[in-house]
Amino acid sequence: MKQNKDIIVFGSLNMDLVVKTSKFPNLSETIICDEFYTSPGGKGGNQAVAAARLADNEYKVKFIGRVGDDIFGTDILKNLLKENIDISNIEITKNISTGIASIFIMPNGENSVNAIYGANSFVNESQVNDFEKISTNAGVILLQQEIPNKTLDLILKKAKKKFIPIILDPAPYRENLTGIYKNINIITPNEIEASSLSNIEVKDSLSAKKAARYIRNFGIDTVIITLGSNGIWIETENISEHVDTYKIKSKSSVAAGDAFNGALAYATLKNSNIIDSVDLAIAASSISVTREGSQSSMAKRYEVEKFMQSNR
Ligand code: RIB
Repeated sequence: MKQNKDIIVFGSLNMDLVVKTSKFPNLSETIICDEFYTSPGGKGGNQAVAAARLADNEYKVKFIGRVGDDIFGTDILKNLLKENIDISNIEITKNISTGIASIFIMPNGENSVNAIYGANSFVNESQVNDFEKISTNAGVILLQQEIPNKTLDLILKKAKKKFIPIILDPAPYRENLTGIYKNINIITPNEIEASSLSNIEVKDSLSAKKAARYIRNFGIDTVIITLGSNGIWIETENISEHVDTYKIKSKSSVAAGDAFNGALAYATLKNSNIIDSVDLAIAASSISVTREGSQSSMAKRYEVEKFMQSNR
């Protein structure tokens, strides 16, 4: 029997410490906020869960990353396991803390994130070697920028050498990385990251198109700029177009980009057409913003199918 390809997510795991508030304190001020909860997160973890819920065991999602030997690490691993993600290549390291993100969510769903990467900062060459060992059946590798630049460089080189399609979410933006982006298949900056990468202020379709063309010149096949509620810009050799998103009332946009990227990884294995893949990723991301939580906000396959049918 033909074995389906694997989706490899190489990257970050955080415990999100979420505070819901209607205002931010000034310096030296204390304010009382509305609600607090913890939620397994990290861009890598969120993307893996988004992909796994869509893959629904048709494709295996394998995670490569690192947590500390603490309660947050234990909870994150338990959650990934529950989502049918292969965690055998997540290292647990003593005496370092698992990554955390302190997140503030406003009533309109907008948010700000302060992250301390902890164990993610120790993702290193030994994990690039683990990737080498498990990559025989890889159909796509999904990366973000919450791990050290040096490791990102190594894993990009390794994946390119093995001709494994690469999707990079260049978040958060880090300076001086564009040199290592050459030969990436898909890059998915949001408007802030696209502005930083291109030095063009991205605020609408026209500026997104200009920025996407600039970023493509780094040697990238496909540039997909996510513009929040203003849609998506896709730029490839043959496509240069805007795709609308759905009108959605957002509860929390914390992991919307991750929902998009995880779904895109799944969709590129499923579809040969990039516009169809982006459509599916938009639907998955639209559902995620109607829910709170990070990994827990990701849409299941049947939910995305139903959403696409009823909103077509
Ligand atoms: O993209 C959202 C994620 O970014 C959060 O889950 C948080 O952990 C930060 O890494």
